[in-house]
Amino acid sequence: MPISFTTVSDLQTALNADRLAGKKIGFVPTMGALHEGHLSLVKSAAAGNDIVVCSIFVNPTQFNNAADLEKYPRMPDADIHLLKTAGCDYAFLPSVNEIYPNGKILLDIHFGDLEKVMEGEFRPGHFKGMATVVNRLFEIVTPDNAYFGKKDFQQLAIVKNMVKQLGLSVNVIGCETLREEDGLAMSSRNMLLTAAQRKAAPMIYKARRTAQEFIPFHTVEAVKELVTRYIQQSPLLKVEYFEIVNPETLQPIQDWNECKEVQGCIAVLTEGPRLIDNITYATI
Ligand code: PAF
Repeated sequence: MPISFTTVSDLQTALNADRLAGKKIGFVPTMGALHEGHLSLVKSAAAGNDIVVCSIFVNPTQFNNAADLEKYPRMPDADIHLLKTAGCDYAFLPSVNEIYPNGKILLDIHFGDLEKVMEGEFRPGHFKGMATVVNRLFEIVTPDNAYFGKKDFQQLAIVKNMVKQLGLSVNVIGCETLREEDGLAMSSRNMLLTAAQRKAAPMIYKARRTAQEFIPFHTVEAVKELVTRYIQQSPLLKVEYFEIVNPETLQPIQDWNECKEVQGCIAVLTEGPRLIDNITYATI
């Protein structure tokens, strides 16, 4: 079993001893309700470090919707059990007060155009809250390496940008998205889908994968429209956005010849959870 900590000081006492012993620290921040995707991050951390810390903290400052925060699945006992199988040494489950001892004060940081599009546009304040907690967790854990899933493509870009802006010494590593057999990207929110929504959801991946074949024959706008229409054949799915972006700047492209590889990023509304995913397209 990983050793569980709930206070910053207890975790830091353990980590200080590890660091003095010359051990390399890998860190996986999560909001719990762990699935194979999270465990693959923990496994990558275990492969590249001596000690693996996984935090489980449902961060209130990154939710722009109170109902979403309340409904977010919480299952710490099952999470700790799963962490054992993946090679995690320390599980960190802090209270809100432990993370925000002086109140929920947000980090004063801006991400320019990176935060103006997609999730930044549709979930105002989300990235400020996410960056605030990730920075706080980095300050507590001071990891050598930190692991994030590429499913949250924009989050990964923002975390890398934050590390650069603040001059932090942590190495941020993006790991591949894990999918269910039918293509649905693994996510803690999937467990909130009804049986009918779960049946419809793989369409999100299938439609966008098929889009690769349209690229030589259609404009960017036309591909976006075709994919949106295809997904919305299901009355249970409503595309909030589907953007095809430059993977570095995250800005929507107008023409295929702007980049050799582009990222198709999508958010889909169901009557239950909101689902996001992304896929890489080769343009030439
Ligand atoms: O991706 C997540 O689960 C969260 O945004 C993170 C990085 C753990 C910060 O709360």
